[in-house]
Amino acid sequence: MTEHRITRRGLLAGGAATAVGALAACSPASPASPGPAAASTAPSTAPPGAVPAAASGGYGAAVEPFHGPHQAGVATDPQAHAVFVGLDLRAGTGREALARLMRLLTDDARRLTEGRPALADTEPELALSPARLTVTFGFGPGLFTAAGLEHLRPDSLAPLPPFSVDKLQDRWNGGDLLLQICADDPLTVAHALRMTVKDARSFAEVRWVQRGFRRGLHLQAAGTTQRNVMGQLDGTVNPRPGTADFDRAVWTGDGPDWLRGGTTLVLRRIRAEMETWDAADRVAKEFSVGRRLDTGAPLTGGGEHDEPDFGKVDASGFPVIAEQAHIRRARVADPGLRIFRRVYNYDEGITAGGRADCGLLFASYQADIARQFVPIQRRLAEADLLNEWTTPIGSAVFAVPPGCAADGWIGETLLS
Ligand code: HEM
Repeated sequence: MTEHRITRRGLLAGGAATAVGALAACSPASPASPGPAAASTAPSTAPPGAVPAAASGGYGAAVEPFHGPHQAGVATDPQAHAVFVGLDLRAGTGREALARLMRLLTDDARRLTEGRPALADTEPELALSPARLTVTFGFGPGLFTAAGLEHLRPDSLAPLPPFSVDKLQDRWNGGDLLLQICADDPLTVAHALRMTVKDARSFAEVRWVQRGFRRGLHLQAAGTTQRNVMGQLDGTVNPRPGTADFDRAVWTGDGPDWLRGGTTLVLRRIRAEMETWDAADRVAKEFSVGRRLDTGAPLTGGGEHDEPDFGKVDASGFPVIAEQAHIRRARVADPGLRIFRRVYNYDEGITAGGRADCGLLFASYQADIARQFVPIQRRLAEADLLNEWTTPIGSAVFAVPPGCAADGWIGETLLS
């Protein structure tokens, strides 16, 4: 354990006042130009020659609220960049250690998302542009065992049942603890990733890191559906944050008390088979989903947000939207049983064999995994024309605890 870590733990255990004074010298903030949200908290004793507190303007200064009944990063309008980190707890990290870890990580997240350096931040300048940073925490099944809290694990928080389409690789599966870090700037994401992983190091080790991206900020008007690496408009039919349907589908209202106001996340790494997708013509591509590639409209006509007519047949009597089209197989009638897709693309470049290594980080949030995600995935595994070009290669599930108040910490409803 390093000197630095002992200091940080000590800080959080109690001696914060002294320590904050000691840290003033490494604060980037100055009275003349505080960071975006730092004005009220930044020490004003920056020595001459200290890092200039160049508060970024524009989208760099934008802050997503950290506190509230739900964690940020779920209903939040998706940022352009994301990294998902799965950690495995080290042997001996039990309930008390987990509580310490979550206090520490909450403190990091609170500061960084507000545009303030984390305590003992080694690159404090990088914290000054939060760019709508969110840090969202999730608890995997193994965390409940480690904490001796198996009885509080939600029933459906378990590795998913196997599906016939799966070609899962263990290096993308599982994890006891999730950090989901999203922002509109990739350097902000990188900094938050480094700070949080550094602080988690003595409690947990990294199992996997998955980086994702969407369209760059301001490329499209707000509310425009994003395109995925396969060129499709992806996210047309999705619960809308701020609606009663979203609240019912996403936030957990039953199950263990500690998870009320939280949700669950299924993260599937789905490879896009781009070589064969490239070989398919537009008709086949549109037929597989049941929507047009250009406008995203259903093949039965209208605009992107018009209802598909699943009863419509062509001149030969065949359904215009095929029985095995993705949108027909994925459709869920009851809005309360839908999943919320907050999907990122991934692209790891080109393999040694010259093939594209890209696809989707399919992040699905729902109140209950067994009730909502599993039946859809089962139907898709049984029959979905899109399966020809998509292969799930990673799978992980997490309970996402509710948010916290200014004097609270994420996970307190379970671990305190
Ligand atoms: C790489 C894999 C996938 C791709 C490329 C993909 C692509 C798409 C596209 C283009 C649409 C139509 C536009 C829209 O409504 O967003 C769609 C709809 C949908 N997808 Fe997927 N999808 C994939 C995997 C999945 C998985 C694994 C699930 C769930 C287990 C899923 C669930 C849905 C749902 C619920 C809809 C809305 C259906 C409706 O119209 O009611 N998708 N997807």
